[in-house]
Amino acid sequence: MKCKVFLTSTVYSDTLSVLNSSHFEVHMRKDDEPVLTEEDLIRIAGEYDALVCNISNKITSKVITAATKLKFISNIAVGHDNIDLDAARKKNIIIATTPGTLHRSVAEYAIGLLLMASRKVSTHQYQQKTEGYPNWAPTYNTGLEISNKEIGIIGLGQIGKEIGRMLHFGFNSKIYYLKNKSVPKTDYKITPLDKNQFFSRMKFIIIACPLTEKTKNLIDDNELNSIQNDSVIVNIARGKIINQKALLKYKNKFRGIGLDVTDPDPLPLGHQILDDPNFFITPHIASATDEARGEMIKRALKNVYNYMHLEDSNDVNIIN
Ligand code: DGY
Repeated sequence: MKCKVFLTSTVYSDTLSVLNSSHFEVHMRKDDEPVLTEEDLIRIAGEYDALVCNISNKITSKVITAATKLKFISNIAVGHDNIDLDAARKKNIIIATTPGTLHRSVAEYAIGLLLMASRKVSTHQYQQKTEGYPNWAPTYNTGLEISNKEIGIIGLGQIGKEIGRMLHFGFNSKIYYLKNKSVPKTDYKITPLDKNQFFSRMKFIIIACPLTEKTKNLIDDNELNSIQNDSVIVNIARGKIINQKALLKYKNKFRGIGLDVTDPDPLPLGHQILDDPNFFITPHIASATDEARGEMIKRALKNVYNYMHLEDSNDVNIIN
């Protein structure tokens, strides 16, 4: 019997050949079809052996508990906070992700956002295109250089390390990180700081850690209060790592706030921070390059092939 696989979004056609038709029956949803609801996902979990999904699909405990057929979920992402892992563990449903595919793209984007927030690129562009730019004036709307600065990274996993590497070798930045239990290995100098030192000393902060119970609201009133005036903060991880309400309270302390991720993610049109000139917001697209997305999709489909057809879990990034 063929393995039935449901893809919640359209993938590049050349990547689909991994799931060849003699072993797999594939249903691929078109991106212009209506958004999948929880009810849709419950139905799919009863009809398909494997699901290839992404961060916009909420695989809730209801979906997992109702699954009568589903054995394998391959998330086209490194993060997996869209999936209820406890429910999957109880149901023996395997979850796999795609590490090693997007760190370069996300790191480039993080630095892009850091520059955007430090130099207000989109503000200048908006003014130029809409209001017309006032005369060049030496002190008008200046930003901050990032070269030779101390930069603090929260989360030195594959993405955080790549951000640090690009900043160290490209901008001669001095890289600091928020100390935790693990000691990361890098080919450039990194310096750990405890929480108090980190937030009171770092004027450039980039968040690159996963969202967990421990990192939820990691940046809240206390941390925002100790951050220096005129700092720049960038988040390319998950929106809930910063308490967004608190951030709104302290927003004027910042020279720029660059968020590729928000709470909710993405923000609905009309949300108050979209119009706020302190915020530079993009809709969770740091990994959106042809290169990264191609690799993410290939890895996600290979996870399905290896686990469901070869029955080999060695080359499958299982996380539960
Ligand atoms: C991930 O892989 O978790 C990213 O946030 C998706 O771009």
